[in-house]
Amino acid sequence: MAKATQLLLTIIFITIIISLFTNQAAAQSAGPCKPDSCHPTRGPTIRFPFRLARQPVRCGYPGFTLRCNARNQTILTLPRAGDFIVQHIDYQSSAIYVGDPGFCLPGRALNFSVSGSPYDATFLNRFGILNCSGRLEDSAGAGGYYIVLPCVSTENSTVVVVADDFPADMAPPSCRRAGNVTVPPWTFSEFYWRPIGPEEVFELRWSRPACGRCETQGGRCGFKEDSGFAVGCTRPSGKFVA
Ligand SMILES: *[C@@H]1O[C@H](CO)[C@@H](O)[C@H](O)[C@H]1NC(C)=O
Ligand SMILES: *[C@@H]1O[C@H](CO)[C@@H](O)[C@H](O)[C@H]1NC(C)=O
Ligand SMILES: *[C@@H]1O[C@H](CO)[C@@H](O)[C@H](O)[C@H]1NC(C)=O
Ligand SMILES: *[C@@H]1O[C@H](CO)[C@@H](O)[C@H](O)[C@H]1NC(C)=O
Ligand SMILES: *[C@@H]1O[C@H](CO)[C@@H](O)[C@H](O)[C@H]1NC(C)=O
Repeated sequence: MAKATQLLLTIIFITIIISLFTNQAAAQSAGPCKPDSCHPTRGPTIRFPFRLARQPVRCGYPGFTLRCNARNQTILTLPRAGDFIVQHIDYQSSAIYVGDPGFCLPGRALNFSVSGSPYDATFLNRFGILNCSGRLEDSAGAGGYYIVLPCVSTENSTVVVVADDFPADMAPPSCRRAGNVTVPPWTFSEFYWRPIGPEEVFELRWSRPACGRCETQGGRCGFKEDSGFAVGCTRPSGKFVA
């Protein structure tokens, strides 16, 4: 008798706990934290771990706040590199794809850093940047190409990108090496695609919070509790798994 009561109480207790978690998770997908976007039809869907600045703080993970600009574009601000337009978010592979509002991603590559943000970038490719006085046309020099970056060049200086190992003595005499850049997944040949348009993006990844597995299984990630930053997964069945 006592044992049966104990068992019953245990079951009731577990049921209450589970329903609390489920309601908590359900609250994430409705109400103030329901998926949002800056543009009624074209914007990427913003949901946990992201939130829009206009949503309550607890809708997103710290450091994952995006905002909408006056043109209904979704903006990501990196503390050390400034504002980017969010083109796409891949929740399953935990990657966000950002472009330059001025369509000059090479220019942004000259001064790019993810430091101070929760994101990471794989800097696979290294390039040299030459700054040349006067006008210079694209040229295929022996031993390597240099490609003019129109959006970084000015009336009086032409900025070109070269392969990292471009020999200094191959450069036109009016040029000096202004720096080296490493950029997130790009190949040198991608500098050929012109005009540099909104489709040019940097891929940034995050590993915390680890929501990829949950998303891949069709679930939705969210905070486990009202406070703290532990996350869990609401499975497609509606069941919340810590
Ligand atoms: C931005 O979105 C709002 C609300 O969906 C809409 O009323 C407005 O016209 C949009 N503005 C632009 C510039 O697309
Ligand atoms: C790089 O970008 C940051 C953020 O936008 C800015 O504060 C800084 O002045 C830039 N540095 C250079 C060398 O342009
Ligand atoms: C290139 O050189 C010119 C003149 O010295 C300078 O004004 C410009 O900022 C330089 N551009 C880059 C990207 O370093
Ligand atoms: C380019 O050089 C000319 C002549 O030296 C000068 O008048 C002009 O202001 C320069 N333009 C820029 C953008 O620096
Ligand atoms: C860029 O890298 C080359 C070698 O890869 C090096 O010789 C040069 O000093 C670097 N330039 C700058 C400005 O960092």
